[in-house]
Amino acid sequence: MLRLIKFFKDFLLVFPITFIFQPIAKYLAFIYYFNRLIIWIFKNKNSIEFKDFYTPLRKYDRRLKLYDFVSDKHQLKTTAINYLEFGVASGASFKWWLNNNSNPNSTFNGFDTFEGLPEDWGTYNKGAMSSNMPQIDDQRGHFIKGLFQDTLTAFIKEKNSLLNQSTKKVIHMDADLYSATAFALSQLYPFLNKGDLILFDEFSVAMHEFKAYDEFVHNFYINLKPIASVNNFYQTVFEVM
Ligand SMILES: C[S@@+](CC[C@H](N)C(=O)[O-])C[C@H]1O[C@@H](n2cnc3c(N)ncnc32)[C@H](O)[C@@H]1O
Repeated sequence: MLRLIKFFKDFLLVFPITFIFQPIAKYLAFIYYFNRLIIWIFKNKNSIEFKDFYTPLRKYDRRLKLYDFVSDKHQLKTTAINYLEFGVASGASFKWWLNNNSNPNSTFNGFDTFEGLPEDWGTYNKGAMSSNMPQIDDQRGHFIKGLFQDTLTAFIKEKNSLLNQSTKKVIHMDADLYSATAFALSQLYPFLNKGDLILFDEFSVAMHEFKAYDEFVHNFYINLKPIASVNNFYQTVFEVM
C-alpha cells in the first residue's frame, strides 16, 4: 500500500496533473477553512459566557458591548494594561480602549500603515481604509506607522522590557488580513502570559483572521479560551490559558 502511495506521489511530481484543480483551488481552500470554522463554533458555542449566536442582523456597534463585558469582567477599566492594537485606521476602537482605562501606568500602542490595506481583502482593494493618524491627547497612547512586517520587530526590540512585564496584555487584532494577523500573532507569542486577552475583530472570516487563529493555536501549541463574542463570532475575545 505504502509503495502504491509513493508511486502515485512520484507520478504526480513528474506529471503534475493536479494543475487541473488550480482554477478552483482557492474555493477548495475556502471550503476547508469554512468547515473548520463551523466545527470550531459547534465545539465552543456553549461554553462561551457572553455571546449572541445566532443573531440574524450583524451590528458593528455591538462590539462596544463586547468591550464593556470584557473590561468589566477583567477589571480592565482601572487596572494597568498593555494594550496593543494591530489595525488602527481612524482610531475608533483604539480610542475606546484608551478612554475606558483610567490607570496612569497603562500603555496603548497602535500599529497601522495609515495608508490602508497592503493587499486586497474581500471586496476591499489594496489601499482601502486609508486614514490619517488619529489625534489623541493622552500621553499613554502611541502610534507606530508602517507595515507590521517592517515595524513590529524593531518595536519588540525597543520595548522588550515593557513586553516582558507581567502587566496584562490586551491585544486587539483588527487588521482584517490573514498575513498581517498571522505575522503579529507569531511575533507576540514569546510575550504572552496566562490571563492575557486577544480580541479578533473579524474572527469568523474563514480565510483571514480565523485561518491565522487556527494555524496559531495549532503551530504554537497555545491554548486560547474563547470568553466572549458578538455578531455570530465576528468579534471574539480569547484568554490565554
Ligand atoms: C479595519 S481597519 C482598523 C479599524 C479600527 N481598529 C477601528 O476600530 O476603527 C484595518 C486596518 O489594518 C491596517 N493594516 C492591515 N494590514 C496591515 C499591515 N500588514 N501592516 C500595517 N497595517 C495594516 C490597514 O491599514 C487598516 O487601517
